[in-house]
Amino acid sequence: MPLNGLKIGCLGAGAMAEALLSGLIKSGFPPDYLYASDIHQQRLAFLQKKLGINPEQSNQGLVKAVNIVVLAVKPQIVGQVLEETGEFFCSGQTLISVAAAVPVKYIEKFLKEPVGVVRVMPNTPCLVGAGASALCAGTYAGEEDLRRARAIFSAVGRVAEVNEELMDAVTGLSGSGPAYMFMILDALTDAGLRAGLSREVAFLLSAQTMLGAAKMALESGEHPARLKNLVTTPAGTAIEGIFALEEGGLRRTLMKAVSEATRRSSEISARLK
Ligand SMILES: NC(=O)c1ccc[n+]([C@@H]2O[C@H](COP(=O)([O-])OP(=O)(O)OC[C@H]3O[C@@H](n4cnc5c(N)ncnc54)[C@H](OP(=O)(O)O)[C@@H]3O)[C@@H](O)[C@H]2O)c1
Repeated sequence: MPLNGLKIGCLGAGAMAEALLSGLIKSGFPPDYLYASDIHQQRLAFLQKKLGINPEQSNQGLVKAVNIVVLAVKPQIVGQVLEETGEFFCSGQTLISVAAAVPVKYIEKFLKEPVGVVRVMPNTPCLVGAGASALCAGTYAGEEDLRRARAIFSAVGRVAEVNEELMDAVTGLSGSGPAYMFMILDALTDAGLRAGLSREVAFLLSAQTMLGAAKMALESGEHPARLKNLVTTPAGTAIEGIFALEEGGLRRTLMKAVSEATRRSSEISARLK
């Protein structure tokens, strides 16, 4: 584990914090070096029992105790929490924010020292170790801050780096993407049912097909169009299906979904600039 000797604390101990803490432990990070704070003490007691991490009674205590703080409260709480803790951050610490649509500059306004801030947009499959996260560096974030952030999010999936102006696009694609995939999965399951399969069998085959296709594309590094061509024979079944998808405007619809979600994300972040 490349973060040996560093203490990591989640400020806000909800779903995302639990996914990150569990992922770090599964990848070999010692729970003794993991901390969390939350307004719900029973939530901290639950995570202490389940994962063996250290509960911190206060957000300020957490900031003072660790080298890396993962800010994991809801976006609308970020200002309030940084108002309370901002003055306790020191240079040398890394502040990683996963708060959707909250710009780096907004976070930095609350800090007294030049702290390395890294903004990350993860997605819900982090909960099962298959997340897609994109990160960008703040004004004072150096290579060490980025290395720390990469190591944490690699424990729960795959990581890409982008400039901050592309974070809305990330939100529209991979941040919102699980919702699109679940809709496609539900529709494929219904389609299997319509073709005569039981719901259980249709779901299993549809979900495993989505997973398998993504795994093949990632592991082979092949262009998806080439992989599609491998399944498509002259006058065969797949090309008939593809023809129907083209007729329904699948590509156009997906492109529109991502650009609408991107536009909405930039509207939300503009309020915090
Ligand atoms: N979940 C995801 O897959 C996902 C994906 C991308 C980005 N994110 C980002 O991750 C962040 C956390 O999301 P989440 O889904 O983990 O949210 P969550 O489950 O609501 O977790 C946040 C936790 O922080 C607690 N909290 C509220 N005010 C606090 C305070 N002043 N001090 C300390 N703790 C406080 C919350 O309590 P209450 O419930 O009582 O408010 C809750 O237990 C959000 O900013 C979100 O945009 C999440």
